[in-house]
Amino acid sequence: MSSTSLRDWLLASITQRFESSADLELGDYIFSNSLFHSIAKEQVEFMFAHQLEIIEHLGQADAVNELVAHCIDSAKRYTYERNQFVNFTAEYDELQTAEFTDFVHQIRAALQKSKTEAGLEAEMVAVLKVHHERLRLIMASYCVTYQGGNLKENPLLQTVPCEEYSAEFQLSVLGLELGELFEPVLDIGCGTKGTLVNYLRERGVASFGVDRLVPESPFFFRSDWFDFDYSSQPWGTILAHQSLSTHFIYSYLHQPVSIEKFGKLTMKVINSLRAGSFLSYAPGLPFFENQIEKVGKFEVTRQKISMRLPEVEQIAYSTKIYRMK
Ligand SMILES: C[S@@+](CC[C@H](N)C(=O)[O-])C[C@H]1O[C@@H](n2cnc3c(N)ncnc32)[C@H](O)[C@@H]1O
Repeated sequence: MSSTSLRDWLLASITQRFESSADLELGDYIFSNSLFHSIAKEQVEFMFAHQLEIIEHLGQADAVNELVAHCIDSAKRYTYERNQFVNFTAEYDELQTAEFTDFVHQIRAALQKSKTEAGLEAEMVAVLKVHHERLRLIMASYCVTYQGGNLKENPLLQTVPCEEYSAEFQLSVLGLELGELFEPVLDIGCGTKGTLVNYLRERGVASFGVDRLVPESPFFFRSDWFDFDYSSQPWGTILAHQSLSTHFIYSYLHQPVSIEKFGKLTMKVINSLRAGSFLSYAPGLPFFENQIEKVGKFEVTRQKISMRLPEVEQIAYSTKIYRMK
């Protein structure tokens, strides 16, 4: 088998493991961790049939790094798709990198030890058990650090899916007309498909998107919004429909430990605007806007969202923050 096909198989087998757990929730990960300890028969068969080639492949640092990066990427996507308010910080990236690297080394060691297919299966189950128990600890530590309280009822383990909306809907909630956008436009938390960015580009508006889950391309930056370099160019208009402000509100209500981080990020965003241009977002951030209105440099305007949203009446408005100078 060619090394490219082997590499593709290994990457695909990781993807397939996550897909086979598609029906499970983050809570299962903590409280029913054993559900993740098994391995598909076909995967063991393949590994045993290509034992020596896989051992050789996993002996190369580049191959291990690529596989680890794919594991982390898939694990983050799996987690974020289940609860959009989880956001692994740099220390958790380090923990996950260490754990997935060890996981790959343990797989190689299991292959080296196994003389039979049944033996390999038993070794792999043992590797998966240790690996998932450690990942469970990492996840549990994240939850209690960021939301405290009883792990059993931790809101970060509940399912909070992330909706994506049509471009027309987003513009209507933000109360924006195409003609009032200054270029270049940056859409923060643009979604996995970058729907609004694509819509604007099709209409000749120079637009870019940033999102932790969007595939990287010339117009899309795959990045955490905390890490993105907003000063790479002076932005004409920055948009954030149900993204930055939704997460800021969540943090304000439930994760005091992150409020300052969101405040600083929003300041960084509005400071990266060209003078005269604006950040437009929904829902509103009354607790942040009150503060920003006191800073002479910015002007805040608000517009009620026309849909009836009684349960979130106080924040059911879109905001524009203009940078005046
Ligand atoms: C509710 S969706 C809204 C997407 C889009 N704005 C729309 O209205 O269709 C929120 C988006 O924010 C992104 N997101 C959440 N946290 C993020 C972070 N820390 N860095 C970058 N993107 C993030 C998610 O990946 C998701 O695509």
